Amino acid sequence: MQTERLTADRPGLTRAAALLAAGECVAIPTETVYGLAADARDGRAVARIYAAKDRPAFNPLIVHVADLDAARRIAAFDDAALMLASAFWPGALTLVLPLRPEAGIAPLVGAGLPTIGLRVPAHAAAQALLRRFGGPLAAPSANASGRISPTCADHVLDPDGGLAGRIAAVLDAGPCPVGVESTIIGWPGGRATLLRPGGIPAEAIEAALDAPLARLATDAETPTAPGQLSSHYAPNAPLRLNAAAPRPDETFIAFGTPGPLSLSPSGDLVQAAANLFDTLRRADRQGRPIAVAPIPDRGLGRAINDRLRRAAAPRD
Ligand code: TXA
Ligand code: MG
Repeated sequence: MQTERLTADRPGLTRAAALLAAGECVAIPTETVYGLAADARDGRAVARIYAAKDRPAFNPLIVHVADLDAARRIAAFDDAALMLASAFWPGALTLVLPLRPEAGIAPLVGAGLPTIGLRVPAHAAAQALLRRFGGPLAAPSANASGRISPTCADHVLDPDGGLAGRIAAVLDAGPCPVGVESTIIGWPGGRATLLRPGGIPAEAIEAALDAPLARLATDAETPTAPGQLSSHYAPNAPLRLNAAAPRPDETFIAFGTPGPLSLSPSGDLVQAAANLFDTLRRADRQGRPIAVAPIPDRGLGRAINDRLRRAAAPRD
């Protein structure tokens, strides 16, 4: 399969929507990372996502919709969920809520769970495509399973760990402004719980809820604890975290100081998140072990540290 590169203009959006309607997978820009989209109501199309990514079938996918009305047709929202949706949608927040079985979402999307992860993306091209397509799009990040998430179309098509030749098209709208995946909130056991730190700081969600979020026990092998197999977002090179300085054989990723590979010379966590995955890829291409400077564990720093710990985790 030759993967088409489409631009996010009228003809490109029309072509992307037509491919999706025909049951194909298309990589699409969102404000967080590029997602690999397919019609969430079409089980065969969703199966193509898992196949293109080589993704373990127990790992459920996020469904993207254009607005809250569309989301409410798919899942049951209680008051707390409605409050978070109105505070943070469109945006980098995914809510895990009880699935409405009558919504017609293909069972493979939720990998058999009674809940569904939903998000209204803020990116203009994602919004335009959702409206043109007119239905829900299942979309995990558009990388091979376990590899670094893509934050531009070139990452999606990367010969090493990318999806070129495995998907119908990529809709190219330039780099993703946020650069880390969405924050995921669910209510397992009835309490609002941070299932994955991400593009919206947990502190902002706690402020909106006026209550602390419960945390998941970090049992990284439990697939219902979303997602997170211990080694994930993995570069090829080994990664050493909290490094004050590099050893002679290491490539150094700086933070708060300048350097050839600095996440943010000024120590800005928003800029660091936007640069994270591209910087990891560029460091990996040096072919040497990677050392990363300490990142403060607040705001977007929590999402950055979460991704770095997974990238550094022992490999299978
Ligand atoms: O920013 C994002 O969230 C990006 C863009 C494309 O929207 N998507 C993304 O999807 O990161 P993915 O599939 O790479 O990660 C989704 C995570 C997985 O860890 C999955 O296990 C979890 O969400 N998840 C999805 N549905 C769930 C559910 N019903 N219950 C628990 N976890 C769920
Ligand atoms: Mg992912």
